[in-house]
This record gives sequence, structure tokens and C-alpha cells, in this order.
Amino acid sequence: MSHPLRLGIAGLGTVGVGVVKIIRQQTALLKARTGREIIITAVSARTKDCDRGVPLNSYAWEDNPVALATRDDVDIFVELMGGADGPAKIATEAAIAAGKHVITANKAMLAMHGHPLALAAEAKGVSLRYEAAVAGGIPVIKTLTEGLAGNEITRIMGVMNGSCNYILTRMEDSGLSYQEIFAEADGLGYLEADPQLDVGGIDAAHKLAILSSIAFGTKVDFDGIVIEGIERVSIEDINAAADMGYKIKLLGVTQMTGRGLEQRMQPCLVPASSPLGQLQGGTNMIVIEGDSIEQVVLRGPGAGMGPTASAVMGDVCDIARGFQLPVFGQPAKTLTSATPAKSTRPAPYYLRMGLVDKPGALAKIATVLGEAGISIDRMRQYGHADTSAPVLIVTHKISSAAIDIALEAMERTGVLASAPVALRIEEG
Ligand code: HSE
Repeated sequence: MSHPLRLGIAGLGTVGVGVVKIIRQQTALLKARTGREIIITAVSARTKDCDRGVPLNSYAWEDNPVALATRDDVDIFVELMGGADGPAKIATEAAIAAGKHVITANKAMLAMHGHPLALAAEAKGVSLRYEAAVAGGIPVIKTLTEGLAGNEITRIMGVMNGSCNYILTRMEDSGLSYQEIFAEADGLGYLEADPQLDVGGIDAAHKLAILSSIAFGTKVDFDGIVIEGIERVSIEDINAAADMGYKIKLLGVTQMTGRGLEQRMQPCLVPASSPLGQLQGGTNMIVIEGDSIEQVVLRGPGAGMGPTASAVMGDVCDIARGFQLPVFGQPAKTLTSATPAKSTRPAPYYLRMGLVDKPGALAKIATVLGEAGISIDRMRQYGHADTSAPVLIVTHKISSAAIDIALEAMERTGVLASAPVALRIEEG
């Protein structure tokens, strides 16, 4: 039997403690499945003397994660500190240089530095694994790099931030405003220390950037993502979208088009009856479309101790079995530079506006849309008691540029009682 596989874990927050627990509780199962004993030799965290609910005193302690990463008795450096730069990156680079395998849950680091880190790991012949970085417990990296390796991927879309999906579905259920539900989620500890990472769409965009690289053989290009958070999603839009048969989701979409790589993370409408439309609470969902498979839908917990530690352990088991893959599914030196698409694929749009209630107001809006080349698919005007008439329009497929032109022209009509809202509708 092979010698034990020795882990050094840097970062003893929720995920780090979860990994310690699985290794302690599932010792026999892990050995049976991998043929090796999996042990922890050393750990590191910012503070040493605090009760984390698991015994740690049988492991060596290192204050400095770089010292941990380069110890002779560590085969895998497990980086669970977080942060795109700073100690996480320095220690990861040191581990690779010292010939250690690395497992990380750090989506920000991979989104910013994924390609150079992959080049370094592959040059050294070590693994750099990151299943836990994208969609928590959902094995989406494995699905893309292994199970779907024979497919040309045509599109990936999904809900990749549980906190945002929690906020949006709580707004739907309660009828409360974004501000009220944001405060509730924050109070429950559902948001990152910097909530902007969640509600600003940045955390989810980090994950999308990683998936794009695997799907399309391109270097990770976080800067090429069009990002818009959920802060401007109002309860009025959630209710109006529901009336028209849609749900609003913070949706990540990546697809290779004739105009380049289109990567977007923005609030979109999806059909209420679709798998994405039915996704509730903090759950994540990734929809992968490929030429042979057509569509695969993965759904599961996107965060939390058990799910994220489970993803880390999947990577540990692969390394224990001696299984090694290029970091992004093909050798890093063959990844191409993505050309970001300058415009998005045409899509139907949802428009909501308040019109002054006088003859010809709606006709003026219809004229503006017609002049911008926008065809109306469905329209609804609601009954109202005051002088502002709420109007909803669903358009046929149109470019975002045409929508921008129409929104500008609407401002000049003099019939708007409130600023119009436009949201893309993502079908499928
Ligand atoms: N705040 C993140 C989420 C955690 O809600 O999905 C995992 O990145």
C-alpha cells in the first residue's frame, strides 16, 4: 500500500474545518476509495488560540502559510484563506515552486491569476485543483473537464451566487423590498464580509470567468465580463416579471460567438417554469449546453461547510488516486486569448415604465420602439388610480444597442412618469 497522502491546510474557517471533519470522520471510506491513507500533517490560520469545534492539536501549526506550503511533510497544500492576492497567492506560488500539489477554493485568485498559476503548476508537473471555487458542492469543474470533454460547449449559464438567489427569492415570497431583504440576509450572516462581492455580482463573475476558460479553451478573462449586480432589482420588477411568466435571477452566461467571447453576469428574466426559474433560496444551478449532450443541468448547494469541503475532498481523492489533468482541461500553454464580444447576442427584453395618463402617450412609446427597430411581442397596461399608468412590454429579439437607443429616445417623448427599466430575457 502507498504511503499516506499528507495535507497542509491554510485557513481554518468554515471550509477548512469542514475538510478536517471529513478527514477525521471518513478515514476508512477515503482509504477504501483511494487506496491511500489521507492525513493532515500541518495547519495554519490567522489566529491560533480559538475553539473551532474540531481537535487540531495533533497537527503541526505554522503561523506563516508559506512555511506550511513548503514543508517536507506536506504533499498537498490546501489553500482556504481566500483573497485574489496577498498570502493566498504567495503561498500558492511557493507551494507550486516547491513541487506540491495545490487545492484551492479561491475563485478570486483563479479569476485574476488562473493562467500564470496554471502555467507554473503544469511546468512543475503538479496539480492545481479548484472544484470548491465554483458553485460549492456542485461538481461542475469535473463535469466540464472530464464528463463533457468530448463536447464542443456552446453555452453555459447559471445561478452561481446563493446569497443573491436567496435575496431575490425572498423578495418574491415576501413582497418586501431589496433593502429590507438585504438587511435580513446580512443579519443572518449570508453575505460575504464585503457584501458588494455578492450583490455586486463579482463573486459570481469570478466563477463564470473560470468556467469560460474550461469551456472555450481561453485564458481566464475576468475583465472581459460585463457585470451588473442585483441592487437595482426592485420588488415592482419582480412582481411585474412574475405577471408576465418570468423570474428575475442574477444570471451568468458565457458563450463563444462570431463576435468573440460573450461573458455576462447580470439580472435577467428567465421563464418561471424553467429549471432556473424554479431555483429557490441559496441553491446554485449551472446549465451546460454542448453539441452532443444538448443540455445538462447541475443543481445543488453553492456554499456552506459540508458542500464546499466535499468539493475539496473530491480533489484530494483524485490526487490520492494519481489522477492528473491540465488545470483548465487542456494544457495552459495552449489556451488562447479571448476576444471579448463588443455586443451581446440579440434577446427579448422586458421593459417597464410609468406613462403619464393622457391620450397618445402609449402611441409615442410604440413609435419610439418601432423607430429603433424593436418589435413588441406582448404588452400590458395595468389599472391605476393616479396619473401614472404602469406599462409592461416584452419585445421580440433585439440587440442591447437598439434597447439603449429606444430608452434614450423615450426620455425625450415627455410621456414618461418614471424612468423605464429594461432587463434582458434569457431563454432556454
Ligand atoms: N457568497 C457566496 C454565495 C459563497 O452566496 O454563493 C460562495 O462563493
